[in-house]
Amino acid sequence: MAVPVMEFDRVCFRYSDGNSGGSWALDQISFSVEKGEFIGIVGANGSGKSTLAQLMNGLLCPHSGRVTVLGGDTSDKRCRERLWMKVGLVFQQPEQQLFEETVFADVAYGLKNMGASPAEVSSGVQAALRAVGLEPGEVGKLAPLALSGGQRRRTAIAGVLAMKPDILVLDEPTAGLDGPGRQSILRQVKQLQTDSGTTVIMISHSIQEVLALADKIAVLEEGRLAVWGTAREVIRQQLGRGASSFLLPEWLQVLRRLRELGVSAGGDAVTREEALEEIWQLVEGESNERDKAGSLHRREYSHSPSGPPNQVDRLPASGQLDSARL
Ligand SMILES: Nc1ncnc2c1ncn2[C@@H]1O[C@H](COP(=O)(O)OP(=O)(O)O)[C@@H](O)[C@H]1O
Ligand SMILES: [Mg+2]
Repeated sequence: MAVPVMEFDRVCFRYSDGNSGGSWALDQISFSVEKGEFIGIVGANGSGKSTLAQLMNGLLCPHSGRVTVLGGDTSDKRCRERLWMKVGLVFQQPEQQLFEETVFADVAYGLKNMGASPAEVSSGVQAALRAVGLEPGEVGKLAPLALSGGQRRRTAIAGVLAMKPDILVLDEPTAGLDGPGRQSILRQVKQLQTDSGTTVIMISHSIQEVLALADKIAVLEEGRLAVWGTAREVIRQQLGRGASSFLLPEWLQVLRRLRELGVSAGGDAVTREEALEEIWQLVEGESNERDKAGSLHRREYSHSPSGPPNQVDRLPASGQLDSARL
């Protein structure tokens, strides 16, 4: 049987300065991660995502329960001392922590601290920059401040990748980036997981972002693990428990709203394709109904010069459905 690379067992954590109102930032969290898996962690602001990330590499230790990472208990100091190399944590807005004079020096920082030789540092930095889609020859000598916001974010991620961590934890790596910037980071992180077998744990405030990428997804709510499972399991559970709409992808928000409006779909859609199919069938069913109603009205109103009143509002075509408006 596969040995988990990370295991949370009934973990509770509370900040001691009382800012969290005396309540648990994390409450009875249990889950485990296998080697090479891609885990998505989603939840609203303040649900405990960043706290969870810091428990993963021993920056924080649980008040009760146990966190085991790569075979060691993070409450053990010797275990924590080696974890900073093995579990690469990319903080929220990591670009704010770039401080060296050049991009090369910044990406090299952690690798140097690990005791790598100058040749290892040079090749490691180049590989890490390429892995995040930056050309070392173009950006290496630039000051981080000369880069765009998206490039600075990639530079910070490269600094962690250069250390070749066994487990990569990314805290909202796409927040604040534009659509193409987001897509390219997601693609590169997924590629890293499939090419090098790195275990990836990615935090996001949008379930949509992790649905297609993650093997398993955790939904945090007020410090509790509300839902845990594969994408399909998580969506089914979310729908079943009437979870808030923002934790559903747009296409399921549309279906749910249609059902609330009394337009019955009766399907079991989970993926985007399934949902589009279900919406399409609804639209077709609705226009068949309209046609029937229309021919009825034509018969009833055939004597009227103005024709039948248009009583059946037509649903927009699936591509035009606007979840915000619905
Ligand atoms: N350094 C801190 N000191 C005190 N309370 C904190 C600190 N960081 C986070 N919290 C509190 O812990 C809870 C979880 O926060 P956090 O893990 O940052 O959530 P998320 O990343 O999901 O937004 C929140 O109630 C937050 O206010
Ligand atoms: Mg956070």
